[in-house]
Amino acid sequence: MKLDQYTCYSDFRKAAGRKLPKFVMDFIDGGAGDEKTLQGNTAGFKDIQLIPRMGSITGPGLLHAEVLGLSYAAPYGIAPLGLCGLVHPKAEMMLAKSAAKYNIPYIVSSASNSSLDALVKASGVSPWFQLYLSKIKSQTDELISHAQKYQCPVLVLTVDAPVPGIRRRDRHNGLRIPYRLNISNVIDSVTHPAWLIRHLTSGRLTFPLYQNLIDDQPNLTFSELMGIQTGGELNWEVIDEVRDKWQGKLILKGVMSVNDAHIAKKMGVDAVIISNHGGRQLDSVPAPITMLNQIFSKEFDREFLMLDSGLRSGEDIIKTITCGAGFTFLGRPFLYALAAYGERGLAQLQEVIFEELSVNMRLLGANSIDALNDEYVF
Ligand SMILES: Cc1cc2nc3c(=O)[nH]c(=O)nc-3n(C[C@H](O)[C@H](O)[C@H](O)COP(=O)(O)O)c2cc1C
Repeated sequence: MKLDQYTCYSDFRKAAGRKLPKFVMDFIDGGAGDEKTLQGNTAGFKDIQLIPRMGSITGPGLLHAEVLGLSYAAPYGIAPLGLCGLVHPKAEMMLAKSAAKYNIPYIVSSASNSSLDALVKASGVSPWFQLYLSKIKSQTDELISHAQKYQCPVLVLTVDAPVPGIRRRDRHNGLRIPYRLNISNVIDSVTHPAWLIRHLTSGRLTFPLYQNLIDDQPNLTFSELMGIQTGGELNWEVIDEVRDKWQGKLILKGVMSVNDAHIAKKMGVDAVIISNHGGRQLDSVPAPITMLNQIFSKEFDREFLMLDSGLRSGEDIIKTITCGAGFTFLGRPFLYALAAYGERGLAQLQEVIFEELSVNMRLLGANSIDALNDEYVF
């Protein structure tokens, strides 16, 4: 099949499965525990149905979305994805460029394998910046200052990962950074020569945003590094301190409780991303789309509510907006597209999503993203 015949995320996923070693594909695909949350996330979208309204169409639906005072071509962005270098040495650069080209936001993970400097140079745009709270407070402060220095407009503080979830696939595969070669991952790698050559020629994976800590403690393994950089105290006092330090817009990512969203709003957080980290943290968590539909949208303005986890198409984006969120993020679909065909894959995925958005808006009878509301949802 030619690339322009790729019409949905599963086309990209299949191609990615052929091009990546199994341990990398499992790293992307996998969830925590026995993956109930992971499966529930996509199932949640299947349970929502749309009701077309006729008689009000004035032309092609406008996809344009305003969020936190910023203006984008459509109501979706690229979720933060750490350790993307495992998929492709230039992964973050490609994601940043694709987001800039299509005028959607890109949230760079603090566990990125590219520096902010490289990303801003490659794309010409400062990304939104995702932060974990470090056990070493000065590390958190340095990252906040660093994001400020590069004029990132939005800080996204992830609050659902004080420890990494228990991801069985990664443990079965013995995933470690730096890689430990064993018979199965050697076979896995040599049977994917293009991936292997790219990785052998690009050198060791680095974590430029954590470089200060790595310089101080050069023998840390990846899991020790992440244990420090994500294991800081996580409570409302600390979040309040971040609010005080950060001059731009602040989002909490990983909020699943309505009470938490109320507290966040009261303390001056600008928005929350209702998210269960794509099913990679606590298992047995409801799908964010189900929570939004049943609880969140009745209590908050749509500008305050964003959502990720389980979106796979333009149709899912529309469903999320009709259920009451103002903005959405997708994670895995971008990694599949990137793994499958690099920058060309990303461009094709963006075209697919934009087409799905505009065709479905027309079929739904909605003239703009702002016009989408619960009248369109069953
Ligand atoms: C490979 C991978 C790496 C991720 N890394 C991060 C990260 O560094 N920081 C973070 O806040 N979320 C991270 N996430 C979670 C995503 O930001 C997002 O919440 C999730 O992927 C959304 O679900 P979806 O993949 O079903 O779209 C990661 C997800 C994946 C799949």
